Amino acid sequence: MQKIPIIMDCDTGTDDAIALVAALYTPNFDLRAVTTVTGNVPLKYTSRNTLNLVRYLGFEIPVAVGAAQPIMGGRFRSATGTHGHTGMGTVTLPDTDAPFYEKNAVETIIEAARALAGELILVPTGPITNIAQAILAYPELQGLVKEIVFMGGAMIGGNVTPNAEFNAWVDPEALSIVLNSGIPCRMIGLDVTTRAVLDQSEADYFRSLESKAGILVADLLDFMLVRHQKGGEDLLMHDGLAVAAVAHPDIVRTQSFYVDCECHGTYTRGHTYVATNEVYVKKAERPALCQVALDLDLPKLKAYFREVIGNSVV
Ligand code: RIB
Ligand code: CA
Repeated sequence: MQKIPIIMDCDTGTDDAIALVAALYTPNFDLRAVTTVTGNVPLKYTSRNTLNLVRYLGFEIPVAVGAAQPIMGGRFRSATGTHGHTGMGTVTLPDTDAPFYEKNAVETIIEAARALAGELILVPTGPITNIAQAILAYPELQGLVKEIVFMGGAMIGGNVTPNAEFNAWVDPEALSIVLNSGIPCRMIGLDVTTRAVLDQSEADYFRSLESKAGILVADLLDFMLVRHQKGGEDLLMHDGLAVAAVAHPDIVRTQSFYVDCECHGTYTRGHTYVATNEVYVKKAERPALCQVALDLDLPKLKAYFREVIGNSVV
């Protein structure tokens, strides 16, 4: 089987964690490393959550620590209301004594990109700070990264403001740098992730696996269920859909648009501007267009999660 080399870049909160479990058990992935970034919760938690999860499930994939702040600095409102104080809801994983990778996120990304010479796919599921910093530090990445499939943005709507999605809102400058880098991008935004919803039956299935991964995913989904019953976010697999779209590109339907991220404006900061008309597409000024996900195959997504997490046997 020809494996797909990827690096996940996570702000491990609850849906990142489920996405990471799926990636770990996806047989056609070669998960080279996981890099961490501040977002849902501060970096110390996103990094600890990521390393604990990888080690708890018995993997030794490098976990490299990344950015503690958005690329232009500044403070932002974390998402502890959605993911809990630590980012893992009510789930507590054993604290591993394994070390983080000796390189930081940027150096880990360029190290893998050079080794894979054009085959690496980056899958950021949080604020895209690390990727933008890597592009600025190493412009050669433009010719070394095959694609960036990112969870973020929205053609229409928002979940932090009426027109800004959280990952884009935390670091719009970073997203604009990535979108204008010339590296092919695929945007898995709220337009599809707000329909990537699981339910109690999925939690029951994963718990029935009786594996550590299945029980972990079930516990995370149970936290989301209680959260939703209290008026919080539904069981939305924002990040899991981005991972699934790498494993099975036909899980989403995309269309090519000019996309940039608004970095200014009292009411517009973090808005992903998706030009749907040639009139607004200044192609000469833009090195690459972005594939924007417009629709998803939810049954296929659910089947993907069941298939790959079903691969966990201990
Ligand atoms: O807007 C949803 C995104 O923000 C997801 O990646 C979630 O984990 C949070 O980071
Ligand atoms: Ca995330």
